[in-house]
Amino acid sequence: MSDEALEKFRAGLATIEGEYQPALEAATNENALREARAKFTGPQGALTELMKGMKDVPGKHRRELGQASNALKNAVQALFDARLEAIEKEALRAELEGPMLDLTLPGRRPMPGRLHPVTRAEYDLLDIFGSMGFETARGPEIDTFGRCFSQLGFPPDHPATDEHDTFYVSGGGEGDEAHVLRTHTSTMQIREMSRREPPLAVVSPGKVFRRDDDATHSPMFHQLEGFLVDEGITMAHLQGMLTVFLERFFGTAIDVRFRASYFPFVEPGAELDVRRAAQGDEPAGPWMEILGCGMIHPTVLRNVGYDPEKVSGFAFGMGVDRIAMVRHAIPNIKALYDNDVRFLSAF
Ligand code: PHE
Repeated sequence: MSDEALEKFRAGLATIEGEYQPALEAATNENALREARAKFTGPQGALTELMKGMKDVPGKHRRELGQASNALKNAVQALFDARLEAIEKEALRAELEGPMLDLTLPGRRPMPGRLHPVTRAEYDLLDIFGSMGFETARGPEIDTFGRCFSQLGFPPDHPATDEHDTFYVSGGGEGDEAHVLRTHTSTMQIREMSRREPPLAVVSPGKVFRRDDDATHSPMFHQLEGFLVDEGITMAHLQGMLTVFLERFFGTAIDVRFRASYFPFVEPGAELDVRRAAQGDEPAGPWMEILGCGMIHPTVLRNVGYDPEKVSGFAFGMGVDRIAMVRHAIPNIKALYDNDVRFLSAF
């Protein structure tokens, strides 16, 4: 029995001895090489299986067969190492001798961002008014009913204060202390004038909110409020200043008209329309109302603690989105808020 086991063991060693070299040499990549090695010395490999039969071999032969098995195992590992090194060298050589990295392929162009046309219009407005001596002040988008309406002289039942026109915010107080999404930046007249003494010249850009929704109205839009208070200020100052401003902003290719109008917080009041002027064969663009303006009402001056006998001032509230639309000939205000890069990147 045990002699048979001995013979079987010897025969097994001889078979493996004869097979492992051609098997490892036939492998031409790392995976195949690892598989070839596993056939002999892996957990289910031929040599591993063979060594499990050692217990059946007569004791006096075990030492000799153990050494022979180990020597064979080491030989398999040594050939594996040598073959692996050769395969890696070959791969490197193939890469070095293969086609060169193509430096002539065009690169990927980065897509730089840019400012939104409304933001750009706002910054340009602030630059021009800044150069004319106006300071910039920014204020909150939620303000009190008082600052939005009452202190500006709106009568309590004015349609602008109606729930259909104004977004009321819950959690505020009652009456003048109720909170609303500001319907205009004129709240900033009250805020700034209440805490400062004339002379002052301020512009205040920001978002305003109304329940309005059509091609030229969006429920959220941008205004820029401007106001100037000093002794002896008249409507002529307002008209002169706005005319100079519009020439600087649009250049001369634009027509301007003032129309008498009504706002509770100015007297007299006006609206200003602009359109692209006719050029060669191209007809003029449509008139677009871009701002309301007027002389600050004596009641408003009194509400902020000024003496209307001593000082006077003008105010205007400009639609920044409208100005961007005239500047770029954009017919629909919604296009400004779709955030379609194909549209926005045209400006
Ligand atoms: N606040 C007015 C509006 O939103 C515009 C305006 C501002 C009119 C200042 C006159 C003076 O329409």
